[in-house]
Amino acid sequence: MHPIDRPRRLRSHPTLRNLVQETRFNTRSLVYPLFIREGTGIRQEIPSLPGQFHYSPDTVLEGVDAATQHGVFSFLLFGIPKHKDPEGSSAWAADGAVQTSIKIIKKRFPYVLLITDVCLCEYTSHGHCGALCQDSHGNVTVDNDATLPRIARTALSHAQAGADLVAPSDMMDGRIQAIRQLLDQERFENTPIMSYAVKYASAFYGPFRDAAGSAPGQGDRKGYQMDWHNRREALREARLDRQEGADILIVKPALAYLDVVSDLANQSDVPVAAYSVSGEYAMIKSAAKAGLIDEYNLIRETATCVYRAGADILISYYAPEIGEAIQKGELG
Ligand code: PBG
Repeated sequence: MHPIDRPRRLRSHPTLRNLVQETRFNTRSLVYPLFIREGTGIRQEIPSLPGQFHYSPDTVLEGVDAATQHGVFSFLLFGIPKHKDPEGSSAWAADGAVQTSIKIIKKRFPYVLLITDVCLCEYTSHGHCGALCQDSHGNVTVDNDATLPRIARTALSHAQAGADLVAPSDMMDGRIQAIRQLLDQERFENTPIMSYAVKYASAFYGPFRDAAGSAPGQGDRKGYQMDWHNRREALREARLDRQEGADILIVKPALAYLDVVSDLANQSDVPVAAYSVSGEYAMIKSAAKAGLIDEYNLIRETATCVYRAGADILISYYAPEIGEAIQKGELG
C-alpha cells in the first residue's frame, strides 16, 4: 500500500519549505523592554536576567542603539525610582527616570516608538500595583477606585514627556476609561492606550520583580491579576478594555497562554500583542547555560509559535536576537 497524500512531499527541500510556510513575520512587529533606573552612569547587567541591563537616563541610548541595529524600533520603558512611598508618587514625577529618558531618546532617535509601562508597583513601598486600604472585614487590599486617578496621572506624565503610547499593567477595573478621560481632557486624544488587558497572576514574572524591585512585600497579586485557570474571562477583560477605549490589547505571559492569544486574535478588532515575560527568557537562558538546549533555535521556535498563535506584536527580551535572526534570513 502506498499513501496517496504525502505531507512529506512539501518538506523535501528547504526552499520549498520556505515557500509553503504558514507563519511569516518581520522585525517591525517586535517590542523590546528596557529598565531605566533613576541616577547617572548606570550600566549594570541584571542578575536575574543575564544579557539585560539596568540603564540610567544618560546611558539608555546604548540599549536603544543596539536594538535598532537589528531592526527593532519599538521599546517598552520601565522605571525604577530612588524614592518609594505608599502612594507611589514618584511614578508621575516629571523628572522621573522614564519621563527623562523619553526626552533623551526622542532627541537622538526621533523615529523610534516609545511605549511606557504604567503601573505603581515599582514605585510603592509595599510593592502592590495600587493604593492599599482595609476592606469591610478589616483585610488589607488594593483600593481599586483610589488607584485610578494615580494611574491616570502617571500615564499623563508619560504623554507629557513625549511617550507615543501608554501601557497600563496594573489590572485595576476601569483604568482604561480613567486614563482615556484624563488624556483627552489634557489634549492627548491621539495618544493610544496599549492595554495589558489580559494579564495573569503568573510565577513567570519572578525575574522581573527582582529586576524592577517590585515584588509585593506581603501577599500576592491574585486579587487583581487574572487566575490562570480562566480562558473565557480573557474575553471579558478584553471586551471591557475595548469599551473603555483600549487601542491595542496585550496578553501576558505568552508561551503558556497561547490558547488565550489565539482566542483574542480570532475575536479582536484591534491588534493583539503577546508579552513573552522575564521567566520565559530566564528559563531559556539558564537551560542554554546548562548546555541542555540550543538557545538560538529555541529563540526562533518560540518567537514563531507566538506569531503562529495569532499575535500581531511580540514583546520580548530577545527582540534584538530575534531581529538579528530575521535580518540574517534565518527567521520570519
Ligand atoms: C508591572 C509589570 C510586571 C511585568 C510587567 N509590568 C510585573 C508584575 O505584574 O508583577 C512583568 C514583566 C516580566 O515578567 O517580564 N506591574
